[in-house]
Amino acid sequence: MTMKKKITWKSLMPSCYKSKDSSDSGENRLKLKPCQFQRLSLSDVSDPSSPICVNGLSTSLFGSNLYVFTLAELRLITHNFARCNLLGEGGFGPVYKGFVDDKLRPGLKAQPVAVKTLDLDGLQGHREWLAEIIFLGQLRHPHLVKLIGYCYEDENRLLVYEYMPRGSLENQLFRRYSATLPWSTRMKIALGAAKGLAFLHEADKPVIYRDFKSSNILLDSDYNCKLSDFGLAKDGPEGGETHVTTRVMGTQGYAAPEYIMTGHLTTMSDVYSFGVVLLELLTGKRSMDNTRPSREQSLVEWARPLLRDPKRLDRVIDPRLEGQYSNKGAQKVAALAYKCLSHYPKPRPTMGDVVMVLESVQGFEDEFVGPFVYVVPNEADDSNEFLAKKGENEHDSPVRGWRNRIKLPPSSVANAESPCSI
Ligand SMILES: Nc1ncnc2c1ncn2[C@@H]1O[C@H](COP(=O)(O)OP(=O)(O)OP(=O)(O)O)[C@@H](O)[C@H]1O
Ligand SMILES: [Mg+2]
Repeated sequence: MTMKKKITWKSLMPSCYKSKDSSDSGENRLKLKPCQFQRLSLSDVSDPSSPICVNGLSTSLFGSNLYVFTLAELRLITHNFARCNLLGEGGFGPVYKGFVDDKLRPGLKAQPVAVKTLDLDGLQGHREWLAEIIFLGQLRHPHLVKLIGYCYEDENRLLVYEYMPRGSLENQLFRRYSATLPWSTRMKIALGAAKGLAFLHEADKPVIYRDFKSSNILLDSDYNCKLSDFGLAKDGPEGGETHVTTRVMGTQGYAAPEYIMTGHLTTMSDVYSFGVVLLELLTGKRSMDNTRPSREQSLVEWARPLLRDPKRLDRVIDPRLEGQYSNKGAQKVAALAYKCLSHYPKPRPTMGDVVMVLESVQGFEDEFVGPFVYVVPNEADDSNEFLAKKGENEHDSPVRGWRNRIKLPPSSVANAESPCSI
């Protein structure tokens, strides 16, 4: 039932393409020229009166250069979703490593991929799957993970992404028995993630990411980072509105206070979540951890007051860095995190401002303040093997991000969107 060919914008929106010259004949008639078109939003697809309906997704060739795979094909490339290919598991469902090449589709680049499968008994479902396709199918940026294709067969929903060899920032930052991420790498990751968010916020039709957290930042072998997981993303306010009103969804410890209180979502909610991740990078501590003393369980509540005072900053900085960080850089980044974490949205910087500050601290190598101690990396460090991570996560903290999801019933938020809007 699924299509086996590459889908293109041309086939999706033929009216956006016109021939160069109506008098053209023969081969010239086939030369099509795209005209300007706006990115489709989730509501365009969910609106029952829309010609682009969800049911037609597999037949109306929706998306841009996305491949539509069959379940049998994805079984094949993951060795029947073998446990040894399991990369991790989140709220959507398990993620497996696979390999694709042009034997699967002509022109398909030979590459490893990550195949995310919907857990049919889980909390997420068709809506998150569709949001991922709508947003990642149309938005392309060096700091957004590349969606290669998807599968839609009976109740099965799968997504196929480029494979990111170092897994998530969460795994890299909080693993106990391995070399810690150096300061310069942390700053590189912060900058890349900030650029990804700035791109979303500054788009013609802005996007609010809504689930910015360390487990959604993926890393390639050179620690270039890419944002993944657009299941909760929302189109920004339109027509002069200041915010969109939604059900409160996201992850505890990362969501902005005003969003939790009112359900009013703006790009500034993402800036707050960015501040939380910046704090995780500075401290090496998880945003929420109920194994810490009660005063310190919420990272923001504990650390934010310390960020303003350069004399107390060393209490905040990750001790695993063993003093190997730039003092000037740390002060700048702490001040930036402090602003991003403002209780009210107005004083927070835009992501464009954040990018500028983080650009300015790259390569800061001023007086590293402690002795240099080389920690021999563990060979297992580079592996993206789930079993090791799973054991460690359970050991490190009983709370995994997706189990900490915030999902309030619609009645608890005034004018909240319907949970079944799609
Ligand atoms: N493209 C990818 N390349 C390599 N590993 C990936 C990729 N996508 C996901 N993973 C791995 O799978 C794990 C689970 O990812 P997923 O996004 O489903 O859940 P999560 O981010 O941990 O939780 P949540 O559902 O709350 O977002 C990630 O932590 C990562 O280790
Ligand atoms: Mg995720």
